This record gives sequence, structure tokens and C-alpha cells, in this order.
Amino acid sequence: MVDKFFDRPGGFCATHISLEPSIYYEVIELTEDLFSDINRAGDPSSLSDLEKKHLPLIDAPDSVKAGEPFEVTVEVGRLLAHPNEPGHHIQWIVLLGGSVTLAMVELTPVSTSPKVTVTITLDKTTRLRALERCNLHGEWEHSKEIKVL
Ligand SMILES: [Fe+2]
Repeated sequence: MVDKFFDRPGGFCATHISLEPSIYYEVIELTEDLFSDINRAGDPSSLSDLEKKHLPLIDAPDSVKAGEPFEVTVEVGRLLAHPNEPGHHIQWIVLLGGSVTLAMVELTPVSTSPKVTVTITLDKTTRLRALERCNLHGEWEHSKEIKVL
């Protein structure tokens, strides 16, 4: 709700913007916890709808040969579709090998889907980490170890 108050000409003009209290408190309560740290799945065998929508799942072979290229796909919303609109969308996806950044992709709502495929090589067994950021629900991580034979 926007309230405007105008005094006489030459006086002052004030604009006061207030939000619907129930909506305002709902948003603050939800986002403060989710934005305080990187979110991860609690119990992988019993994911909540929020986790299903946000976990950046990694699709890659369990094992690869050293130095041989292979594809890794990171997808958000594979288990439960995540909104993809200007007000609620996935802003970026990052793929790390341990603590080394392998790929970073910024996404535009509506025009791009939160699914990224990159080709990588590894020379030793590595835990791949996928991170994503939702503009309303913070950063989420999922990981998968790839054995190098
Ligand atoms: Fe979200």
C-alpha cells in the first residue's frame, strides 16, 4: 500500500510505503534462515518440497579415467519444478571440483532454464560440488564424488 501526503504548495511532500503485514512477515521469516548459510538436503531419502525445488542435482558418471573428458550436468528443479519468472528464479549455477571453480553460469529468468552441462577432466578422485542461488530462497548445494580409475 502506498500512502502519499501532500501539504500546501511550497510545503512538503511525503510518500510512505507500507507492506501488507502478513505478507511482509512471511517473506522475512522464510528468507532470513535460508540466506544465513548454504542450504543442503537434510535427509536425502525424505526431501521436502523446498529441497526438491532447489537442490542442484549432479548427473555425472560414478567413475572416469584420469584425463579423459566427460560431461557433467547440473539441474535445479528436476525433482519438482522451480519457478522461472522475474520475481522468482535461479540466478546462477556454479560447479566446483573440491574448492576449485570449474564453471560458473549466470541465468536470465524465463529465457534460460536452470540446467547446465559442461565437459571436464579429472586427474584424481574428486568431490564435485554444485551450487545455485535462488533470488528468494538463497544458496543451495549438492555434491557427488567421482572416482578416477
Ligand atoms: Fe526458489
